Amino acid sequence: MKAMVDQETCIGCGLCCDTCDAVFRMNDDGKAEAYQTVNSEDEPTVQSAIDNCPVSAICWDESAD
Ligand code: F3S
Repeated sequence: MKAMVDQETCIGCGLCCDTCDAVFRMNDDGKAEAYQTVNSEDEPTVQSAIDNCPVSAICWDESAD
């Protein structure tokens, strides 16, 4: 599974990086990006980041393997 961060929507609050730093990191634009594919172990944590992002900028990338 992969997660995606909408760069237009992210306000750079950093919560997702704090929640799951194995998948999310801040980029040079001060926005979050999903830099790793999500293994099954991390799925609940990523789901929590998706649910808690204040602007709902994160989603699962359904097109990814
Ligand atoms: Fe951005 Fe939401 Fe993460 S605002 S930094 S994608 S929690």
